[in-house]
Amino acid sequence: MFSNKKAKETSLSQPTEQKSISPTETLEKGMVSLIDVIAPSSVEVDFNYIRIGERFYKTFFIAGYPRYVSPNWLSPVIDFSHSLNISMFIYPTSSSDVLSDLRRKTAEMEATISSQIDQGLVVDAKIQAALEDAYGLTEELAKGIERFFQMSLYITLYSDSLAELEQASKRLESTLSSLLILPKLSTLQMEEGFKSTIPFGTDNLFITRNMDTTSLASTFPFTSATLTQDKGIMYGLNQQNGSLIVFDRFSLENANEVVFGKSGSGKSFLIKLEAMRQFMFGSEIIIIDPEGEYEAISKTLGGEYVSFTAGSPIKINPFDLSGMYVEGENELGLKILSLHGLLRIVLGELDATHDAILDRALIETYRQKGITTDPATQKRQPPLMEDLYKVLLGMEDPNSNELALRLEKFIKGSLSGLFNQQSNFDIRNPFTAFSVKAMEDELRPIAIHIVLDFIWTKVRKSLKKRLLILDEAWYLMKYEDSASFVYGIAKRARKYYLALTTATQDVQDFLSTDYGKAILSNSSIQILLKQSPTEIDTVSKIFYLSQGEKELLMSVGVGEGLFFAGQSHVVVKIVAAPFEKELATSNPQEVKEMQERNALYQSATAPQDISTPQVNPTESISQSNPIPEPSRQFPVAEKQPQDVNTQPANPISQNNFPTPNKPEPEIF
Ligand SMILES: Nc1ncnc2c1ncn2[C@@H]1O[C@H](COP(=O)(O)OP(=O)(O)O)[C@@H](O)[C@H]1O
Ligand SMILES: [Mg+2]
Repeated sequence: MFSNKKAKETSLSQPTEQKSISPTETLEKGMVSLIDVIAPSSVEVDFNYIRIGERFYKTFFIAGYPRYVSPNWLSPVIDFSHSLNISMFIYPTSSSDVLSDLRRKTAEMEATISSQIDQGLVVDAKIQAALEDAYGLTEELAKGIERFFQMSLYITLYSDSLAELEQASKRLESTLSSLLILPKLSTLQMEEGFKSTIPFGTDNLFITRNMDTTSLASTFPFTSATLTQDKGIMYGLNQQNGSLIVFDRFSLENANEVVFGKSGSGKSFLIKLEAMRQFMFGSEIIIIDPEGEYEAISKTLGGEYVSFTAGSPIKINPFDLSGMYVEGENELGLKILSLHGLLRIVLGELDATHDAILDRALIETYRQKGITTDPATQKRQPPLMEDLYKVLLGMEDPNSNELALRLEKFIKGSLSGLFNQQSNFDIRNPFTAFSVKAMEDELRPIAIHIVLDFIWTKVRKSLKKRLLILDEAWYLMKYEDSASFVYGIAKRARKYYLALTTATQDVQDFLSTDYGKAILSNSSIQILLKQSPTEIDTVSKIFYLSQGEKELLMSVGVGEGLFFAGQSHVVVKIVAAPFEKELATSNPQEVKEMQERNALYQSATAPQDISTPQVNPTESISQSNPIPEPSRQFPVAEKQPQDVNTQPANPISQNNFPTPNKPEPEIF
C-alpha cells in the first residue's frame, strides 16, 4: 500500500510537474526576448581580434608613457581618423602605501648606482633619471602637493573588415609612438579588452601604470568641451576635430552675438540658419533687414514681413513709450536720449546750443501731452513729431526756429508718412522681419533707427525669449548716436531676455567707434568669416589673431571662419540641411531653381487645392514643409485660411512651400 501510494504519487506528480513547467518553457522557447533582438548572431574570439556579428575589434593597452607630457597630449588619439573606443580607469592610491614603496625603490636604485660606481662602471643614465624622479615624487607626495593614482588606458579599434582593421592598427601604433606612448596588443585577452572599452565601467584587463595628479590632469582629453553644450542649437562643425558646435546663447553671460565677414562670406546665411533653429526652440525672432533678404524665410515660417517705407500703411511713432516701470530706469529720460540721437541723424550736425534747445523742446513736447517722469503719466498718448515742431517754433529763438525749419520736410513733405503718425502696428507674430530696403539710401539709417527703437520699446513690455537681428549693422554704426543706441540695447538686452545679433561687413566702421568696441565686448559669441585684406589687420588686432589664423581668415571658403565663445575659439564650418539651405540661400541661381520647382509644384497641386478650399493652412504648411513645425500656432495662418490657395504669385516668396499670405498689420 505504501509502495502503491508512492507509485500513485509519482504517477500523479509527474504529469503535474510537466504541466507546471512545460507551458512556460514552451511559451518562452517560442518567444523572442529583447536579448535575442539585440544580441549579435555570433561572436568569434581570436588571438588578435574579436569578431562580433560582422564587425572586427582589436584592443590595445598602453604599456609605456612619455616622461614629460604637455596639456591635452592625448588629443591626436582623440582626433584619430578612424572609429575607436578609448577607456581610461583611474584608481586613487593611498599616499602612505606609495611612499613606503617609493622608499624601497629609491634605496634599490641608490644601491645599484653606488655598486656601479664601486665597480668603476659608467652610471646607467636611465636609473639616474628614475632616481631623480623618485626623489621629486617622494617630496611632493610627502608635502601633499601631489596625490598618487594608478591609471589604465585601453583603445579598441573596430572595422568592418579585418584588412582595414590591420591598417588602422598600424596607423594608430605609429601615432602613439610619435607621442612616445607604447601600445601593446592585448593578445589572447581580446574579449576582456573589448569588455573594458564598452561603457560598462569595468576594467577586465587591469594593466595599470602609476601617475601623479599633474600627469593625470594633463591626460584629460576633452579640450574643446566648452564649445559643445548639452543644450542649445547647432552652429556648425568644429573643423579641428569634426565635433559639433552646440551652444545655448541664453546660458552665456550675455546672449549677444557679432558676425564679421566680407560681403558674400555667408553672414546672412548663418544668421538665417540660426534664426530658424532658435525659432524651432521657441524663441521669438525679430529681424531688421536692410537688404530685403529675409522675405522668403519669414513667409515660409509663417512669419510677418513688414516693409517700412514713407508710403506704407504701417506707422511707427518714435515718441512711443513702453509704459513700463523698471526700478532704477528713467524711461522718459532714456526715450529723450534716444530721440535726441535720432534727431541728430535726421537734422544733421547740431552744436551745443542746438543740443540744449532740442533737449528742452523734447521735455516740453512730452509735458504738453501730460507726460512726465512719473510712470503713471507715461501710459497717455504720446506726442508726434509735429508737436515737437510746434514747440520748437513756439520757443521764439532763432536757433529753435532754425531747428524747426530743418525738421519741416519730415512733417509736411513726402516724408511725413515716415514718423509723424501714431503707431498702428504691434509685433504679434513670433517671427517678424522689418524691411527697409525700399527706403532711399540716406533715409535708411533713420528708418533702421526708428524701427530698432520701436522694437526695443515693445520688447521691454513683455518678457519673452527673443532674438533681435540687425543685419548690415554698419548702416547704423557709422552714426555715433545710432551706435550708442545699439550699444545701449546690447548692454541692457540680458535683463529683457533678449539676444542681439549684429552682422557687418565693414569691420573698420563698426570698430572705429568706442560703442562698436563695447558692443563687441558685450557679445559672448563672436564669429569671424572670410575677411578682406583691407580689414584683416584691424580684425587681427582686436581679436589677437595669430599669423596662421590671419591667413586662414583670408583664404577660407564661404561659410567658414573662426567661432569665439568665452575663452575658446575654434575653426568653424557652417553647415545647413538641404531644406534649410533652400530657405537661407541668396544665390540667384539657387533661388531661380527653387522658383521653378515651386511653379512645378504649384501646377501639380493646383486642381487638388481648388477642390478642397477649406484646407487648414497650418496643416498644409506642415505637410509640404519639411521643417518640423514649432508647437505654436501661427496667428497669420489662422487668420486667413483661404489665402493658401488664392495666393498671388510672388517672385520672392515662391519657394517649394505654399505659404500663407502676409496679414494686414494688426491695428490697435
Ligand atoms: N554655409 C554655407 N553653405 C552653403 N552656402 C552658403 C553658406 N554660407 C553662404 N552661402 C551662400 O553664399 C552666398 C552669400 O552668402 P550671404 O549669407 O548672402 O553672404 P553675406 O551676407 O556675408 O554677404 C549665398 O548665395 C549663400 O547661399
Ligand atoms: Mg548679407
